Amino acid sequence: MNILLIGSGGREHALAWKIADSPLVSRLVVAPGNPGMANLAELVALKPTDVTGIVALARDMEADLVVIGPEVSIEAGLADALEAAEISCFGPTAAAGQLESSKAFTKAFCDRHNLPTAAWRVYDKADEARAGLDVFTPPYVIKADGLAAGKGVVIAQDRATAEAAIDDVLGGRFGTAGARVVIEDFIEGEIGSLFALSDGETTRIFGSAQDHKRAYDGETGPNTGGMGTYSPAPVFTPDLIEQVRTRLAEPALAGIAAEGKPYRGALFVELMATPEGPRLIEFNARFGDPECQVLMLRLESDIVPYLLACATGTLSHIPDPVWRDEAAICVVLAAEGYPDAPVSGSIIRGTDQDFGPDVVIFHAGTSLGPDGVLQASGGRVLNVCARGSDLGQARERAYAAIARIDWPEGFHRTDIGWRALGQ
Ligand code: GLY
Repeated sequence: MNILLIGSGGREHALAWKIADSPLVSRLVVAPGNPGMANLAELVALKPTDVTGIVALARDMEADLVVIGPEVSIEAGLADALEAAEISCFGPTAAAGQLESSKAFTKAFCDRHNLPTAAWRVYDKADEARAGLDVFTPPYVIKADGLAAGKGVVIAQDRATAEAAIDDVLGGRFGTAGARVVIEDFIEGEIGSLFALSDGETTRIFGSAQDHKRAYDGETGPNTGGMGTYSPAPVFTPDLIEQVRTRLAEPALAGIAAEGKPYRGALFVELMATPEGPRLIEFNARFGDPECQVLMLRLESDIVPYLLACATGTLSHIPDPVWRDEAAICVVLAAEGYPDAPVSGSIIRGTDQDFGPDVVIFHAGTSLGPDGVLQASGGRVLNVCARGSDLGQARERAYAAIARIDWPEGFHRTDIGWRALGQ
């Protein structure tokens, strides 16, 4: 099979690593990819929003399947264009992808389909939104409606901070993604990420993980796209997985199909586990980053049949995936200044060493300088991932590998997995 994978981050490097391992694959092309993937796939320099260019590339390489990594491609309508070109695609249409690309759409969708989530209001005028805070109590959760690369959510401890966040969103910081602001109740509980695959009719649970959203140790600092993950996470008891499946994932996927937007791809259910059961924080229309990295380390089954089955409506024909009976961890190495103003251009050394069979380094925001030297070119730059017989061993291996990477301008959290390990 010829496969075209779209994206350039750590999630896509992990997907490329797993796809390249499949005996079904004869050619793997990644657009645009990153330097870490160069030994796994052919890289083609196309933006993930260049729908016309990607469809032309898919035709040219006679792609049997296109796998969409990032949400921006979904919002840009890549799956729609591929469908029109009769090319199989893993990733939902723009209409189905509104489950991620519009928080206001999703909140109303939750109400229509009785999905448990926080109480909410949506506004497009700052004075009305500020007044709307009256019906909420601190901490206030303020969200830009559209895609904001993980930066569109503020948890404000006081009213002044909440009002500033509203002004920020509606004042144009996020462009059209900030045309509306959603205010919602803060939900107390333990965070979790659960993944479901869908082909438009059949739903399959496809692993779970726990992310660490705050930039610094001890859950302090600004919210980020995720500073580290591990899987399995103790929060996901069989009972919680069953509740998320029956109360969130399946009704959401049935609901979006019933609204005429069948969903083909991975649905990422980000939830809070509360004493009253799971509450939706948000849906994402793709694999999580850095959740995907630990899922790929733990997935024993070939991933390609699952991706293809979602694209071709044949998910009911294949068995449930098999997972390694091991733990996996991913520690994100970020550039100084992340998430607000990451500094680009610093030199990274030591990523190509032999770290042993249970450590994998995925690139997330790297590029090659003119002299071919690896440098930081994003906020989240490297993902140091490891497997172990338990989480403690996986964590030791990951942090031992980090100690061997020479990148003084980077930083990382030292407590990934603390909820499970109690430290
Ligand atoms: N790790 C959270 C996300 O992918 O959105």
